[in-house]
Amino acid sequence: MTSTPLPGHPHIAYRDDALFIEDCALSDLARQHGTPLYVYSKASMLDALAAYQRGFAGRKVQICYAMKANSSLAVLQLFARQGCGFDIVSGGELQRVLAAGGDPRKIIFSGVGKTRAEMRQALQAGIGCFNVESEPEIDVLNEVALELGVQAPISIRVNPNVDPKTHPYISTGLKGNKFGVAHERTVATYQRAAALPGLRVVGIDCHIGSQITEATPYLDAVDRMLDLVQAIEAAGIAIHHIDFGGGLGIDYNGDTPPAADALWAQLLARLDARGYGDRQFMIEPGRSLVGNAGVCLTEVLYVKPGEQKNFCIVDAAMNDLPRPAMYQAFHAIVPLQAPAAAGGAAAQVYDVVGPVCESGDWLGRDRELAVQPGDQLAVLSAGAYCSAMGSNYNTRTRPAELLVDGGTAHVIRARETVADTFRSERLVAG
Ligand code: LLP
Repeated sequence: MTSTPLPGHPHIAYRDDALFIEDCALSDLARQHGTPLYVYSKASMLDALAAYQRGFAGRKVQICYAMKANSSLAVLQLFARQGCGFDIVSGGELQRVLAAGGDPRKIIFSGVGKTRAEMRQALQAGIGCFNVESEPEIDVLNEVALELGVQAPISIRVNPNVDPKTHPYISTGLKGNKFGVAHERTVATYQRAAALPGLRVVGIDCHIGSQITEATPYLDAVDRMLDLVQAIEAAGIAIHHIDFGGGLGIDYNGDTPPAADALWAQLLARLDARGYGDRQFMIEPGRSLVGNAGVCLTEVLYVKPGEQKNFCIVDAAMNDLPRPAMYQAFHAIVPLQAPAAAGGAAAQVYDVVGPVCESGDWLGRDRELAVQPGDQLAVLSAGAYCSAMGSNYNTRTRPAELLVDGGTAHVIRARETVADTFRSERLVAG
């Protein structure tokens, strides 16, 4: 048997002609569980986490997995058991991570629009830190904490105004973005927060964007953050932790982001050079921990030749996997049986599209595939922001999800039923 791992996916490989994730043949999983189907590799997630842990060996670091990337309970449970904390952005995420066994003291709460109810819920749970994003939020959090007779631990999210050189929808640290407090307002905002009895300043944080594939924007952000820490501490306010956010990219299409350990070696060298290497750090990675651990399996329904384009119509759609429709994102699409073994169909260039009634419902454009109805495909790099951003549009039920550990596939989400999709709706009486 020959094993040929897919580039950038060490745990996804053709063994002879069949595509495997760890020791499970994906076509067996598709047959047993149906399609569309999300399948995640546990080993890939642990490897990705280990790269960060190696990078931070000997340092004081709390890794807070940004759970918005993939918030399936079993994925959260896996990271909680590895000692991770969590970056949350809603009361819903708080409940979800507590249900999965997350330690509330390792939870940080980001987001520009926290409600009073969410603040109350998080204070009662005893979370580690609120990443406050605006001056008005400071006042509201102070009031809510005083009502409960507690102090809210806070860090202020600073907008460092550096260009992460990524897609505009996922770049967050520029002046024109809604996130964080402007660099020049930071010291004054800290002074204001430090004077409020319901708040306790514990840190500072930033997050400059997502799918970042170069070290330079991070190095710039480190410099700007340290300048601020210096200024804030000179004003008599102690900063206990520095949180650099998430954002490290993955290889979707030959992208070459730095490895997490290599990136952090570089950043820590800069922190050491400036005398801050022994501080408590936090990071909030999402995509880089789970993105390349997941695939979405789909079956070819029809092959439709067109005048200008050929369409490969599959049973997964934009509601299951919205990134291509939303960001024109590229996800590699590969057959579960290597083309030579599949026999029959000749290779053609297709747009791979779903059944949803929108022209924007596509998963891949201009892909060369040798396919016929009944063939199965894997959409790669589908572990982050795919299932998590899914919807029920066109009353399509959410796919089942599996977590593969060696030769065992655990069902971590049962396929949704149509009844589930309208359970909370009511007809009008009379
Ligand atoms: N921390 C904060 C405050 C964030 O807003 C985010 C992501 C992260 C951490 C994690 O970033 P990551 O390590 O995953 O890049 N739906 C988009 C990505 C949106 C990212 C939003 N914020 C996509 O599919 O590309």
